[in-house]
Amino acid sequence: QSILILNGPNLNLLGQRQPEIYGRTTLDDIREMCTEHAQTLGIEIEFEQSNHEGALIDRIHQSKALHDGIVLNAGAYTHTSWALHDAVASVELPTIELHLSNVHAREPFRHHSCLAPVVIGLICGFGANGYRLAMDAMYSWLEDSA
Ligand code: DQA
Repeated sequence: QSILILNGPNLNLLGQRQPEIYGRTTLDDIREMCTEHAQTLGIEIEFEQSNHEGALIDRIHQSKALHDGIVLNAGAYTHTSWALHDAVASVELPTIELHLSNVHAREPFRHHSCLAPVVIGLICGFGANGYRLAMDAMYSWLEDSA
């Protein structure tokens, strides 16, 4: 199995960005945690971040040929980007929507997700550990569908 873990805008600032909401863990810490967890599961991962909508879309397109599934924390593009929705729908790879924070307990504009209709499931509210949970969920989903 190979999973793309794709992070959207402002997630490069994790650790210093609103730590009361997102915690003190940096994106590099999360990348390391995911790499270790991938070894435990015996799978491959690619871990990336971009602040640019088009770059995220390009990455999703490329993943079709390279990966079996996508874990996507699209940041605020989650709430606005029908282009990301279309990209996920187009590649037909199982995709999990991920958020560190519980978006439903926050401002109303975070309650809507453009991605929700095209993902296999969502994980939110578990902080950095959500990345591990999302990897476990994708691993099981891919095993079950093999
Ligand atoms: C986020 C939640 C989004 O609403 C926000 O815009 C982010 C981070 C999260 O991981 O909790 O940038 O995706």
